[in-house]
Amino acid sequence: MSIKNIAVIGSGTMGNGIAHVFALYGYNVLLIDIKQEFLDKSLNTIKGNLERQLKKEAITKEKMDSALTNIKTSTNLIDSKDSDLVIEAATENFDIKKNIFTTLDESCKPEAILASNTSSISITEIASFTKRADKVIGMHFMNPVPVMKLIEVIRGLATSNETYAAIKELSEKIDKIPVEVNDYPGFISNRILLPMLNEAMYCVMEGVAEPEAIDNVMKLGMAHPMGPLTLADFIGLDVCLSIMNVLHDGLGDSKYRPCPLLKKMVAAGYLGRKSGKGFYDYAKK
Ligand code: CAA
Repeated sequence: MSIKNIAVIGSGTMGNGIAHVFALYGYNVLLIDIKQEFLDKSLNTIKGNLERQLKKEAITKEKMDSALTNIKTSTNLIDSKDSDLVIEAATENFDIKKNIFTTLDESCKPEAILASNTSSISITEIASFTKRADKVIGMHFMNPVPVMKLIEVIRGLATSNETYAAIKELSEKIDKIPVEVNDYPGFISNRILLPMLNEAMYCVMEGVAEPEAIDNVMKLGMAHPMGPLTLADFIGLDVCLSIMNVLHDGLGDSKYRPCPLLKKMVAAGYLGRKSGKGFYDYAKK
């Protein structure tokens, strides 16, 4: 199936990055969120990130302008009905995703592929909310989407070879590198990354070192672009906690227990960069 019209559900960090990339590569993008003010803010972010690429001469002014005209917005999920592909990038909440996929399955054309950018919820379970489990797949993009090359392509138990092939081909068309993964908690990326971030948090909690020192060890000693605590703040501490919970519940091993300091910080509303405070204070910067 030829994919031309793509709906992106959710206009937060991941949704706006996904919309940005597809629009830049000439796809018609319909960005959907529950409030117009979220969509306006998201379009502003996309414009800012395109301008950043223009300044670096990674794209031309014509490409930037056509990308912006390729994006339409809506506050109605049902407007995705003519899309060839819908990519859900809404809040990481089971009931929200259940509602979205139930509605998409009823409203979208039968041949449409329904993808989720979930970082941790089971694709097999999401597929079970629909009557087209063969056409449900995970497309897990990395933040910042315009920069990171990887898309983890997650096959649910019923995902067909045809659906996988279509998503692999599409990922390559937007110059990303798809990596095929089977559906297990945390997939590959978060099963390996999050326990490392969680361990860095235990180091803070136990007084092994200050956050800056922990980040410096990993940046300077292991050539990581960001230290684990800076990265946790960048991802969002609430997201980190929800992924650790999924690993802990799904794999049942105590090695995945979320760090108590992480739980406490999330309870206090210290969510990282987005709330202005996490392991670092962003209000000061
Ligand atoms: N849109 C477009 N371009 C962007 C951008 C954005 N949102 N953010 C950064 N860039 C570009 C910059 O313009 C710059 O371009 P050039 O290379 O052409 O100069 C380049 O990316 C690097 O950016 P900066 O110079 O501003 O800063 P940096 O060198 O410190 O890099 C970073 C920033 C790319 C974020 C880098 O620190 C990095 O790779 N960090 C690790 C990110 C990571 O691990 N992401 C995965 C998180 S996990 C996840 O997403 C999955 C999950 O489920 C939790």
